[in-house]
Amino acid sequence: MHAPDDDFRRRSWSRYWASGALTSLPEDFRANYDGEIRSFWHGRCADVPDGGRVLDVCTGNGAVALLVAEGLAAMGQTATITAVDLADIQPQRIRQRFPALAKYIDTIGFVGNQPFEAVALDDASQDLIVSQYGIEYCEPEPAARQCARLLKPGGRMALVTHATDSAMRATMQQELEQYEVLADSGLFQRAREWRSGSLGAEGFVRALARIDAVIRGRPDASGSPLFGYVLGLTGQVARWQAARLQAQRAAVIDAVVQLEDGRSRLDQMLGVHRLLESPERFAGHFEQAGLALDEHGPLTYRGTHAVGHRLLFSKPDDPGRD
Ligand SMILES: C[S@@+](CC[C@H](N)C(=O)[O-])C[C@H]1O[C@@H](n2cnc3c(N)ncnc32)[C@H](O)[C@@H]1O
Repeated sequence: MHAPDDDFRRRSWSRYWASGALTSLPEDFRANYDGEIRSFWHGRCADVPDGGRVLDVCTGNGAVALLVAEGLAAMGQTATITAVDLADIQPQRIRQRFPALAKYIDTIGFVGNQPFEAVALDDASQDLIVSQYGIEYCEPEPAARQCARLLKPGGRMALVTHATDSAMRATMQQELEQYEVLADSGLFQRAREWRSGSLGAEGFVRALARIDAVIRGRPDASGSPLFGYVLGLTGQVARWQAARLQAQRAAVIDAVVQLEDGRSRLDQMLGVHRLLESPERFAGHFEQAGLALDEHGPLTYRGTHAVGHRLLFSKPDDPGRD
């Protein structure tokens, strides 16, 4: 099984956030999470004293940090909000794309290119830790220890993890297998070679013709959107004259790199879904680190479907404190 290293993870997510999406579900949310998700995060602001500290883990383009900033502003409160992600995060890009959010973006300290497990904020410095579709991407035990270390005694942590079910996992597994067919056919490697110059354009076109044949020989060739996309690409390239191909070189390589990033994200997501199979077991990592699980259950959206699983934790008050 392909296991993406940190650099590869970072690259795939950095490219995703550079595309300008505000959340990890851009097909479902044109801008930020809304409805019950927004209300859930606004509700968490009651756990933040005025002037307190909030940390958003695996923030992406800051969706949850922004909802917390918005919720606190509605209460007339301020806080120091830090938003951490492994990927390269550029707040000015978010500001440009969503100018109406500028007043909240400017209240958030974004820390990109930083694995949460290694964040060097002070011990017992945070009143509230939040994360949506986020912390489950970290190494569970080091991440849980970080949360326990960073929270103040009496501090709270609220997580919304991905909703999982076996049908979704099976679909993701199937799609990942299709990505592996592309990897095994040499698509990603040939594109890398074409980019580095160790393979010429003709060699790349021949490789694509072989990849086309491999896909067409599969029984699932016509039912798969992924294969459909690649066949569209191979068909187009096959029709191009040399000059057109040269002009489109960067775009073709970019399309293949995006496919490879898609495989990396799906691979990570599948790992995450396995980890979340049992919310109690997932919560156990945080309990072992010293946090108390106060409540958990599905987070429903539009009153009907579960968009995630919410878990609320607290750090017990320091028994030695008066
Ligand atoms: C599914 S996205 C969710 C982003 C955001 N919370 C949202 O809901 O839009 C998961 C994020 O986790 C980040 N990530 C993965 N592993 C990480 C780690 N070890 N430390 C910090 N961020 C990490 C990825 O870069 C990615 O931005």
